[in-house]
Amino acid sequence: MTRGVKKWTFQDRIIAPSLLAADFGRVAEETTRAIGAGADWMHLDVMDGNFVDNISFGPALIQAVHETNDVFLDVHLMIARPDHYLSRFVTAGADLITVHVEDEANHDVSQTLTAIREAGCLAGLALNPATPFEAVIPHLGDIDLLLVMTVVPGFGGQSFMEETMPKVQAGAKYRTENNLSYHIEVDGGIGTETAATAAAAGANVFVAGSSTFCAPDMAAAVQSIRQA
Ligand code: DX5
Ligand code: ZN
Repeated sequence: MTRGVKKWTFQDRIIAPSLLAADFGRVAEETTRAIGAGADWMHLDVMDGNFVDNISFGPALIQAVHETNDVFLDVHLMIARPDHYLSRFVTAGADLITVHVEDEANHDVSQTLTAIREAGCLAGLALNPATPFEAVIPHLGDIDLLLVMTVVPGFGGQSFMEETMPKVQAGAKYRTENNLSYHIEVDGGIGTETAATAAAAGANVFVAGSSTFCAPDMAAAVQSIRQA
């Protein structure tokens, strides 16, 4: 849990660089660099080589980021059985924990979302490009953030899938019609142009890995996504 956390609303535009695109040999410095460049949150992609075809990092790296930087930690769990590992990410310092709705994640989604909130963290729910919006509807009243994947999860540097935008629009419409207040996050292939497309559809949280950490001027890259 971050010290003195700012209360964001879905009216705020939030930029969350993904540490997956950073120099892993210098995680603490890279996080400090991102904060200095204007990042609001740090997006931390946890991959288990099972739910997705890649392995990234676990609670130990998240703890290292938490202990070396005072920044909101947006933890994206692309793992099976997130409920089993939940407490380790809470202990590591996560502020927001997002789990996937797909059956391959092999958990009771409602129970996991409740457990995340009971642990004092914000709860997020993610759906992959191939997953219909209807799959998340039963849970929209129990989340703080809806994550619409704009690429097939597992790797950074992929191209933005515009065909996922109707799910962002549906999420924004459902939020208004049901007087809810969850954030809408987009993740994958986000840069200045695609951020503008996603913002027009209703997104307010923008995960950006390669377009920020790999930019010649990270501050300019973050600013251009903020103004897109
Ligand atoms: C992909 C991850 C993304 C990824 C984004 O599975 O969830 O967060 O790191 O990287 P870019 O912005 O390079 O597409
Ligand atoms: Zn992610």
